[in-house]
Amino acid sequence: MAARFQQLGWVADKPFAFHWGSDAWVKWATMALAFERLGVEEGASVLDVGCGSGWTTALLAEAGLAATGVDIAPAYLEMARARAERWEVDATFVEDDMESFALERSFDAALCYDALHHSTRPSLVVERIAAHLRPGGWVLFGEPSWLHEVSPDARRVQREYGWQERGVRVRRLKADCRAAGLGAFRRFFEGTRPYEGRLGPFAWQAVRLVAGNAHAAPQASVWLAARKG
Ligand SMILES: C[S@@+](CC[C@H](N)C(=O)[O-])C[C@H]1O[C@@H](n2cnc3c(N)ncnc32)[C@H](O)[C@@H]1O
Repeated sequence: MAARFQQLGWVADKPFAFHWGSDAWVKWATMALAFERLGVEEGASVLDVGCGSGWTTALLAEAGLAATGVDIAPAYLEMARARAERWEVDATFVEDDMESFALERSFDAALCYDALHHSTRPSLVVERIAAHLRPGGWVLFGEPSWLHEVSPDARRVQREYGWQERGVRVRRLKADCRAAGLGAFRRFFEGTRPYEGRLGPFAWQAVRLVAGNAHAAPQASVWLAARKG
């Protein structure tokens, strides 16, 4: 399994990689479409907060944006730089804490994908992102919903790797955005994977979809964009 993902260019020791597969392309399609609809144009500068192994940063760069990835983990940044080199794209990577970084420059747009929910102080992250946006600039958040907190997978990752695995509630995220001077909210939705090959994951997907339907919409990630006033 690990070898298969390595062949596909995935990071074999990334704890989140194995159950993703083609899901990543659904995520990327959602990001790309969202940025297009938000009017983020080729050549714009974009900050990728919690970029990890840099696949989103590299795809943003490949799409013609001037991409900068920030992450706290040096090992991930090493992978990100190697990926950018392998893909022959020009991206910059900075090691820093998303709760306190200060790059002394601003960006036309920002992405925070699958990272905010690891913070125990998300309002600080949102405030730092807002501080790095130019007026009128958009940030796009793509994070697991509150259901993530009860997901067996997330519980296992938290146990095995010691990561904080929280869910993101739209109301709370909007409140943090407003406090940081962000507004004009836009929601985006992605396709979901309703079926699984094995009984356990199928049961989990069924619970997730039923709960998701009851609460909001059956999407795996919450996609929220906010603009700096
Ligand atoms: C689930 S991974 C997602 C990474 C990347 N966005 C992706 O899609 O592959 C979460 C990332 O958040 C980063 N992270 C967690 N806490 C952080 C912090 N305080 N500051 C910066 N990055 C952080 C981790 O190092 C990790 O790379």
